[in-house]
Formats: sequence, structure tokens, C-alpha cells
Amino acid sequence: MTTERTFIMVKPDGVQRGLVGEIIKRFETRGYKLVACKMLWPGEDLLKKHYAELADKPFFPKLITYMRSGPCVPMVWEGREAVKMGRMMLGATNPLQSNPGTIRGDFCIDVGRNICHGSDGVETAKREIDLWFQPNEITKYESHSKDWVY
Ligand code: TYD
Ligand code: MG
Repeated sequence: MTTERTFIMVKPDGVQRGLVGEIIKRFETRGYKLVACKMLWPGEDLLKKHYAELADKPFFPKLITYMRSGPCVPMVWEGREAVKMGRMMLGATNPLQSNPGTIRGDFCIDVGRNICHGSDGVETAKREIDLWFQPNEITKYESHSKDWVY
């Protein structure tokens, strides 16, 4: 059991459909701590870096176009096994294979409109957090008791 940080981002369709609060609520009520959050309309360079490992995939151009279609809400969540649990809470990449009760399994049916991103590993999370946030945008809860939340 380790305390980790993961990068979760509401994609443009999730923002447009008013699902930001719902997604935040699920992580908050599960016991994760929101340590960074903002809204921005990402540009092509940032998105190409974010999805660099998919650059050769046939769906890559459509993915970039979709991600550029509106503002996103990138976030950093902290807590026990945040990366693995974040993926579990999101569901499968293809919403048609996501279990009901997961974010994708409850709110979407199209792999090209799957409303939310989550880091797929601890190292990926570090890379994505560094890419989307400046260090001074990440809150340190030093003034809070460590016991009241995970
Ligand atoms: P990927 O990193 O494989 O999935 P995940 O978001 O679950 O980590 O792919 C990134 C995004 O690319 C995915 O969320 C949706 C899109 N995508 C497609 O449009 N078609 C596909 O066949 C795949 C695998 C992904
Ligand atoms: Mg991925």
C-alpha cells in the first residue's frame, strides 16, 4: 500500500456534458485528496506530448482533434494506490467494456468520447503531472492533520 499521485483529466466531452462535479465527487468521496486542479483549453503541442506514445496509432489524429475541441479539467489526486485505483474507477478504455459503476461505464459508450483520462502507471503519472502542472500549482496540505483523510 503506497501513497501515490495520479493525473486525472476530464476531457472536453466530460466538461461539455457537465460531468466535472460528478467525477470530482467520486474521487473525493472515495477518500482521495485533490492537490491540483485547473481548467484549460489545451493546444496541439501539449496534447501531442501527452499522447506521444500513441503517435503511430491510426486513431491519433482524431484523438488530438477531439481533445482540442474544448476546455479540459486536469487534476492531481493523491492517496493510497491512487494510480491503480484511478484506473479502476475510470473503467476500461472502451466504454462498452467498462463495468457499470465505473466512470466510463456509467456515462459513455464511445471509445472516441470516453470523458476522462487517468494515468496508467506511477511513472506515467509523474510525467503527466510535470507536463500539465507547474510545481507551484500543486498544493501541499502541510497545515492539515495527516489523520483526517488518507
Ligand atoms: P489509451 O492510452 O490506450 O487508453 P486510456 O485512455 O484508457 O489510457 O488511449 C488514449 C485514448 O485514445 C483513449 O482514452 C481513447 C482513444 N482511443 C481511441 O480513440 N481508439 C482506440 O482504439 C484506443 C485504444 C484509444
Ligand atoms: Mg492511456
